[in-house]
Amino acid sequence: MSKRKLAAGNWKMNGLAAALSEIDALSQSLQNADREVVLCPPATLVQAMAAKTAGSPIEVGGQDCHAAASGAHTGDISAEMLADAGARYVIVGHSERRADHGETDDEVRAKTEAAWRAGLVAIVCIGETEAQYRAKETLQVIDTQLAGSLPDSVTGANTVIAYEPVWAIGTGLVPEMDEIGEVHGAIRQRLSDRFGADTAAAVRILYGGSVKPGNATEIFAVPDVDGALVGGASLKASDFGPIANALAGH
Ligand code: PGA
Repeated sequence: MSKRKLAAGNWKMNGLAAALSEIDALSQSLQNADREVVLCPPATLVQAMAAKTAGSPIEVGGQDCHAAASGAHTGDISAEMLADAGARYVIVGHSERRADHGETDDEVRAKTEAAWRAGLVAIVCIGETEAQYRAKETLQVIDTQLAGSLPDSVTGANTVIAYEPVWAIGTGLVPEMDEIGEVHGAIRQRLSDRFGADTAAAVRILYGGSVKPGNATEIFAVPDVDGALVGGASLKASDFGPIANALAGH
């Protein structure tokens, strides 16, 4: 079964208008290949980035959305607004949202449904903390987060899973390759148990946490890794380009 691999970049709270110049450099560095490249800039840049990437292989995503389509929610952004601004994807349940804003699995599930309602692909993030990793609770945590964060109508077209060990995000630490393979295999199995084998095979499962040009090839060779969600190394085309190109051979 074939699905398009995905390199997704999460700029987090980084990037002023001048940073859009990275798009030109990224477009130039991307080799032609059958994989998807998505950048999720801060909300202030979504529309400008979507305009700048129109007609290029780069797609744009948001970093979060509210569950409601509109209303009295000061400071929030709806999935419909992101779609209207030109986004095709939205990250939901990133560990920084779960930690900084106390987002629960229930909220993440509602946000995933909101993304679908607006026609966006949801990139649903899950992953264990360092304490949970040390306590060998990773698979348990993953099970709970998957069960709680995913609505019932998951398909390969509407949902991407990003496995991001919290302790690997922004730290330069990465699990052993066989650990990544074990968790991704477990995620695939849970998806199969709940949504059926065909859907499980079609859903892309990304690894995230300190993915760099120097480790991307090794990570992409791990079974059940269908791409990456990249934070720090997505800010510069000179890092993100090689990571996206490393997917081309997989
Ligand atoms: P990092 O972040 O690549 O900077 O570790 C990954 C993420 O938070 O998505």
